[in-house]
Amino acid sequence: MTDRHIIRRIRGMDTSDGAGVKLKRIIGQPGLDMLDPFLLLDEFRSDQAGDYIAGFPEHPHRGFETVTYMLAGNMLHKDNHGNSGDLTSGSVQWMTAGRGILHSEMPQQENGLMWGFQLWVNLPAKDKMTAPRYQDIAPERIPVVHPAEGVEVRVLAGELAGATGPVEGIATNPVYLDVSLKAGASLTLDLPKGHHGFAYVFDGEAALVGGEPLTRSELGVFSDGDSIQLKGGDKPSRLIVVAGRPLNEPVARYGPFVMNTQAQIHEAIADFRAGKF
Ligand code: CO
Repeated sequence: MTDRHIIRRIRGMDTSDGAGVKLKRIIGQPGLDMLDPFLLLDEFRSDQAGDYIAGFPEHPHRGFETVTYMLAGNMLHKDNHGNSGDLTSGSVQWMTAGRGILHSEMPQQENGLMWGFQLWVNLPAKDKMTAPRYQDIAPERIPVVHPAEGVEVRVLAGELAGATGPVEGIATNPVYLDVSLKAGASLTLDLPKGHHGFAYVFDGEAALVGGEPLTRSELGVFSDGDSIQLKGGDKPSRLIVVAGRPLNEPVARYGPFVMNTQAQIHEAIADFRAGKF
């Protein structure tokens, strides 16, 4: 058994996306371009309507998956194939864009807190042109476990303490956990060896991850191993722990298109312009 530890730390960078939604970009910025198979991680958090009200109007995706985890607030998701879904507080949407969709994510509130994450997960070359697929998971379908004293975990994907997350059939075999730690509480979390993984502290002041303090809005990349040690700081804290099987394939990336070669990117742009999404 090998303990994982933190080999790199990255602080979220303030930016905006969509029609001007303010957010912190954590993966997919100069400090951490990607962490195979993860291409992007954004945290959006504001109680100022002006920071989020314009939402994410219609835009395309091809070649990967977008995962939206709502902590607070309400967004309506719609795509050009007639699918729609209500992203409510505590829900997760795992969207496999595959060969392509056009979609929008628009706030359904004019005030109050809007808080959550969007994660982009790459698809293997063989699945990049698969049919689009949605897993819209309501909050009550996400198991909540207490694997140790003072520890509560929502299991979005992967397995923990006899519970299995509702997200299934994903090529990179992901783990996605929302971990709440009371002050001083500790937990050893098993993670599949070989998976790339990280923790990101999004509430409270700090938590100890692999024996090292990670402060709020800081992401720690794990070394390889079988498990990671988590421990609460002086006050309660909350973090996401995410891991996935790396693809080790070439990545050609242009905005919302993530393929393996530049020629496939040109094809994606041409298909998008020709209305083939
Ligand atoms: Co999108």
